[in-house]
Amino acid sequence: MKPTKIAEGVYDVGVIDWNIRDFHGYSTYRGTSYNAFLVVDEKVALIDTVKAPFADELLGNISQIIDPQKIDYVISNHTEMDHSGSLPRIMQAVGENKPLYCSKLGAKNLASHFPNAWDYHPVKDGEELSLGKRTLSFIETRMIHWPDSMFTYLKEDHILFSSDGFGQHYAGFDKFDDQAGSEAMVQAKKYYANILLLYAPRILKLIEKVVASGIQIDVICPDHGVIWRKEPAKIIDMYLKWSRQETEKKAVVIYDTMWKSTEIMAKAIAEGISLTGVQAKPIHIRSSHRSEIMTDVLDAAAVVVGSPTLNNQMFPTVADVLTYMKGLKPVGRIGGAFGSYGWSGESVRLVAAEMEAMKFQMIDAGPRIQYVPGGDDIEACVEYGKKIGEAVLK
Ligand code: FEO
Repeated sequence: MKPTKIAEGVYDVGVIDWNIRDFHGYSTYRGTSYNAFLVVDEKVALIDTVKAPFADELLGNISQIIDPQKIDYVISNHTEMDHSGSLPRIMQAVGENKPLYCSKLGAKNLASHFPNAWDYHPVKDGEELSLGKRTLSFIETRMIHWPDSMFTYLKEDHILFSSDGFGQHYAGFDKFDDQAGSEAMVQAKKYYANILLLYAPRILKLIEKVVASGIQIDVICPDHGVIWRKEPAKIIDMYLKWSRQETEKKAVVIYDTMWKSTEIMAKAIAEGISLTGVQAKPIHIRSSHRSEIMTDVLDAAAVVVGSPTLNNQMFPTVADVLTYMKGLKPVGRIGGAFGSYGWSGESVRLVAAEMEAMKFQMIDAGPRIQYVPGGDDIEACVEYGKKIGEAVLK
């Protein structure tokens, strides 16, 4: 693929993965890209690599700009294998003796992944590397997304190479935000909700620190998806909003169902919520991937979960979504639980316990209906929905 020119002497030489549909449990229906960046100055730096099967494609892209052996420095912003999997092949092509810059934990983690005697140069936060006329500055960004993560900033061009930060699982020849349109933000939201939300407090502090430092950011180059050159401030603002866990007047009613009883309840609760003027969305778990559900949870003020009772437990798919949600740590939500049952009926209590563990503000004991809901039961669900909607509006 032809490299994408970002600025004079700065190129995206990465690759597009059109076919990936599952990224460690995250549904990537738009594919993804593994971006890698070449900065050509008096010295030449390669920032990040790609997933192992794409190593030759990366080398082919680099070769359209420069002989890989002319690369002086390799920089690893993040150890995860989608960015380092091809390092052995790349170091072989570039020269095994070339310096490899990374964070201190990057050196430790890369050594755990690859048994090589590479010339590691662990860098501290704020440390710089001169390329001649231009300078790279390293910013420690621990836990965005791994303990080893860091950003690299090209000072003279005001370009931030942000690794997983500000990324999106999006495959396209439209490499910039002004070319990809609204889909870039849709996928950025999904990425944040599913990869980064649990680190929200840390991300908030980091962005506030970067903003306070006054460094100029004209272009943000993540390792996945489009490059933000038109409105880099917009994605930074969205990261601030998501990291503060600011929500909309919106509720999601997430449920599974066996014989439609819990589904009837879910729709009635969603209707009750919408009668208060709050946007409500019923989501059948087996019609929507958990990563899509989590994207909706990201900006929902209320999360209501319904489950039938199966073998004295909540339905397994409901447990899956709650476990996933709990790990990603949404906070400050209004919560509700409901469900149907045949004879034992534990599911509502079990669902509510999971939501209480997430410190959701639970609204009453949710409806719990035996077998098939009748007219009064449905009315009770509508009323429960209204209570949730009113709590959102408070
Ligand atoms: Fe894109 Fe955390 O790797």
